Amino acid sequence: MTVSKQPTFHQLFTTDHDAVRAELLTGLTAPTAHTSPKFLYDALGSRLFEAITELPEYYPTRTEATIFERHGAAMAGVVPAGATLVDLGAGNCNKAASLFGTLHPSRYVAFLRNALACLQRQFPAMDMVGLGLDFSAGLALPANLASQVLPADSPRVLFYPGSSIGNFTPGDALAFLRSVRTACGPVAGSGLLIGVDLVKDTAELEAAYDDALGVTAAFNLNLLLHTNRTVGTDFNVREWLHVALFNAAESRIEMHLQARHTLTVHWPGGQRTFTGGERIHTENSYKWTLPRFQALLSDAGFAASQAWTDEGQRFAVCWARAL
Ligand code: AVI
Repeated sequence: MTVSKQPTFHQLFTTDHDAVRAELLTGLTAPTAHTSPKFLYDALGSRLFEAITELPEYYPTRTEATIFERHGAAMAGVVPAGATLVDLGAGNCNKAASLFGTLHPSRYVAFLRNALACLQRQFPAMDMVGLGLDFSAGLALPANLASQVLPADSPRVLFYPGSSIGNFTPGDALAFLRSVRTACGPVAGSGLLIGVDLVKDTAELEAAYDDALGVTAAFNLNLLLHTNRTVGTDFNVREWLHVALFNAAESRIEMHLQARHTLTVHWPGGQRTFTGGERIHTENSYKWTLPRFQALLSDAGFAASQAWTDEGQRFAVCWARAL
């Protein structure tokens, strides 16, 4: 009887509910109310985001996939085979899995548990490791675990698709990319394969974040339901409007929730009145030019980077060598 490989899983993170509640309330009671984009992703929010990636207006996911299809062979020429592929992508591992046949990693490390068992059945020979860790604040693993999960003698390919880097401010993106550079380790050939959304026509950008079906509006408004559950607020979704606009000075799409009229939100121990038109800032999605993004990679300590784009120069995939 053959014994098939099983993924291993290491749980390193537990949710501190008091801290989450405090973080949400600090943002909601600030002079300009704001919330972190991570609060868009409860179970329903994650499903709505998956639906967004299918929308005709939301070009990033499909454009990035086209770049991988067209330029996969060129990428395989510079990305080392036999590497440990560390997937920093949010939620699903399909993007990384679609590259296994091109990049030939020997080990796959992802920040999720459920999808790995299914993937292991498809790729029985590959070592698969799941990490229960919120890596957005940094990637340092405890030393004993790092040596188990990341073999010292194999190059590492860190994979960050989908332009999730755009949801960091430029300062936070630099700090995060520095921690990614450190996590690439000492083996020559290691590096970061990263997708980034590029600056383009304002109408095209705004349509991508305010689609005709209203799926992005539902994604944004669902933050209020998530907050009601988490904090005990009494937000009424029908009293709020989804707003998405391109802030050219900051080179970012901003998502806001705007009060349709003056209203008061209550929660155990507090309340806040929003005047009609007042907004809660819920997400930034920065759009980069390729030269500025490559300069950011260099500031983060990467040695050299090369990029592939689609014909319309909408989106780029960069390979940044660590050493
Ligand atoms: C996950 N992230 C890259 C998406 C973006 O485009 O900034 C999130 C999103 N927000 C609205 N639509 C999609």
